[in-house]
Amino acid sequence: MQRVALGVYLEAVTVAKLLLSVQGLTKKFGGVKALSAVGMDVKQGSIHAVIGPNGAGKTTLINLITGRQRADSGRIWYCGGTIDNLSSEARARHGIVRTFQITSIFPSFSALDNAVLAIQAREGRNFGCWSPVRDDKGIQVSAREYLVQVGLGDHEDTHAAHLSHGQRRLLELAMVLATQPRLLILDEPMAGLSIAESKSMVELLGALKCENTLLMIEHDMDVVFSLADYVTVLDRGVAIACGVPEKIRSDIAVQKAYLGEVD
Ligand SMILES: Nc1ncnc2c1ncn2[C@@H]1O[C@H](COP(=O)(O)OP(=O)(O)OP(=O)(O)O)[C@@H](O)[C@H]1O
Ligand SMILES: [Mg+2]
Repeated sequence: MQRVALGVYLEAVTVAKLLLSVQGLTKKFGGVKALSAVGMDVKQGSIHAVIGPNGAGKTTLINLITGRQRADSGRIWYCGGTIDNLSSEARARHGIVRTFQITSIFPSFSALDNAVLAIQAREGRNFGCWSPVRDDKGIQVSAREYLVQVGLGDHEDTHAAHLSHGQRRLLELAMVLATQPRLLILDEPMAGLSIAESKSMVELLGALKCENTLLMIEHDMDVVFSLADYVTVLDRGVAIACGVPEKIRSDIAVQKAYLGEVD
């Protein structure tokens, strides 16, 4: 990562304990301004939710942070350095990992073998040399621990294709955790889950906060307000509010823009 002035580093990381800070992010698609000078600070060890109506710019913001898309202007700071010039692969290597967008699960492999693969990927082994993985006891033990962590301990031998939708999401989460992310980005983690599965997912994400920093797009307001430490609200590409859930709940502009009503 590009080195930054010591003063900026201290301000961004040591004093405010920020893991991620985006400043002035702007992105246009033709005539559509998806993001207009958006700023957002994500504190280390927090759950930070990004909410907003359809088309507000949530996914675009995440795409800019992961490096999938490039901003027209603005800066992204992470761990004390700017990452604007890093590829998405390099950002992932630095621990910015996103899940629930593209399923990376191998359906014909068992849950355990999928988790093993994720650990191997973290360790930089070649996917093409997959065959001997089950001989590596250390990796298997570790993979099993990730499955247990997400509540799939009883399903290690189940082929991923035979897991329920919710279980596949949990497996995907186990695989992402196996890469040891510093900033875990969750794109609508509750989408498509049953009520019981959502409850398990909320408990799991709440528990992850102890060791991880989570940035989450979520439409379910109950989930957002029960899990998030901080919320950024986007509306038509503008960050109209940011703060703790209680502040966001009572913010008139948010009620107007997001909920479409004011008491
Ligand atoms: N690749 C693209 N090409 C053209 N327009 C795009 C592209 N991606 C996003 N947009 C537009 O940018 C705006 C923001 O889109 P974005 O997907 O970021 O919103 P969102 O908040 O994630 O919405 P949703 O809640 O529906 O997922 C929308 O008007 C959208 O149509
Ligand atoms: Mg979206």
